[in-house]
Amino acid sequence: MKYFLDSAKLNEIEYAYENYGIDGVTTNPRHIMLSGKPFLKVIEDLAQWVKEKDIVGYEKFPISVEINPNLDKWEDMVSEGQKISAYSPNFIIKIPCNEQGLIAARKLEEKGVRTNVTLVFSPSQALPVAKLGAKFVSPFVGWKENAGDDTAQYIQDIVDIYAIHEFDTEIIVAAVRNGKQIADAAKAGADIVTCGLDVYKASFEHPFTDYGLGVFRKAWDETAK
Ligand code: E4P
Repeated sequence: MKYFLDSAKLNEIEYAYENYGIDGVTTNPRHIMLSGKPFLKVIEDLAQWVKEKDIVGYEKFPISVEINPNLDKWEDMVSEGQKISAYSPNFIIKIPCNEQGLIAARKLEEKGVRTNVTLVFSPSQALPVAKLGAKFVSPFVGWKENAGDDTAQYIQDIVDIYAIHEFDTEIIVAAVRNGKQIADAAKAGADIVTCGLDVYKASFEHPFTDYGLGVFRKAWDETAK
């Protein structure tokens, strides 16, 4: 299972790429806002960064960039998606999963612009995403779990449906908040998880690891020299 970083902050992306070997990046309007930079500056910097790293092309390192969420007609979404896509061959255009978004994603894929259909919360939304040939689908787990819904089974259902029908769309489990959700995604057979840097950091740690280190450090220090 691939690890993507869910962030628009270049310093975090650089850190996770160099130290964790992340396989791609996902952004959304909230991440762009948190970067403190204007939208165009963020995408220009990302386009430049993949050149410096020699990872040009979405096949090597996909970066999802979301269209303006205020657009509600598929024609406008397509036009905006094409404009963003022209900035870098690494860009995957993120489109919301609603009727107009699904039409826009289909048209963009027909034009050779790869898409990531986002804000997916049910298997019945994930199905048309795969049928239209989107590169990625992003079912969210964190928001759903906060609302008291089961998420492990819903991800498993999407993975099973895609396998039964031999769809090529890759499943990015998104809005991941903890290590259990990462492990659930891996167990279900999802292709990718996308997490913030803090979620990855926390998932690498365990209180017993710290406790054990304390025990071993004490023993080391008290061993006869
Ligand atoms: C996924 O592609 C989204 O960017 C992301 O996971 C959304 O969740 P968040 O912004 O609440 O973390």
